[in-house]
Amino acid sequence: MSRVKGFISFEGIEGSGKSTQAKRLAGYFRSGGQKVIDTVEPGGTGIGQKIRELLLAPQNHMEPLTELLLYYASRAQHVREVIYPAILNDTIVITDRFTDSTVAYQGYARGIDLKLLSRLNEIVNPDLKPFLTFLLDLDVEEGLKRNRKASKEDRFELETVEFHNRVRNGFLKIASEEPDRVKVIDASVSPDRVSEEIIKVIEEQWH
Ligand code: TMP
Repeated sequence: MSRVKGFISFEGIEGSGKSTQAKRLAGYFRSGGQKVIDTVEPGGTGIGQKIRELLLAPQNHMEPLTELLLYYASRAQHVREVIYPAILNDTIVITDRFTDSTVAYQGYARGIDLKLLSRLNEIVNPDLKPFLTFLLDLDVEEGLKRNRKASKEDRFELETVEFHNRVRNGFLKIASEEPDRVKVIDASVSPDRVSEEIIKVIEEQWH
C-alpha cells in the first residue's frame, strides 16, 4: 500500500484537539489557493453519519466484532464516496481519524487480533494510506477532562482510563513503526502552538 500525497489524517485520544487542528490545517491549504476537504471517521457520508450514531450512543451494548465491522463499513463508504473522488480531482483530503484509530482502539485497546484488522483493511481499503498522519499526543486524564468540560460523553468516553491508556500507547507504537508517515505532536500546549508545529512539518515535507 502506498502513501497518497494529497491525503492527511489526524489521530489521537479523546480531547486531544485533532478536530480543531484538522479544520485549521484545511484553512491553511485553502488560503494558499488549494482545493481541500475536511472530513471525519466514523462519518463523512450520510450512511457513515448513521453508523456513527449507532457506534457512539452510550446506551448501546455492542459486541467488539460488531463495533469493528461498523467502523470498516463506515470506512468502505467514506473511501469510495468521498476520499477517492476528491483525490482524483486534485483535492487535498484531511480526515479526522482513519485506519490507525481502528488499530489503536479495536486492536490495541479492545484486544482484537491485529492480523484480522489487517485482513479487513486489505478488503476495505487496499491502496490508500495517508501521506502524513499527525498524532496529537496527550495525557489520557487531561484529554478526558477537556472532553468532560465540553460535555462530550459518548460510548468511548465511558471507558476506563486503562482502556484509553492502551489506545494512547497503541498510537505511539504505530508512530514508532512508521516514523516517516506518523508525526507525533505534543498536544498539551496551546492550540496555536500545536498549529505552529503542524505547519512546520507541512512546510518540511510538502514539496
Ligand atoms: P471522535 O469523537 O474523535 O470523532 O471519534 C469517535 C470515536 O470513535 C472515538 O472514541 C474513537 C472511536 N473510533 C474507533 O474506536 N475506531 C475507529 O476506527 C475510529 C475511526 C474511531
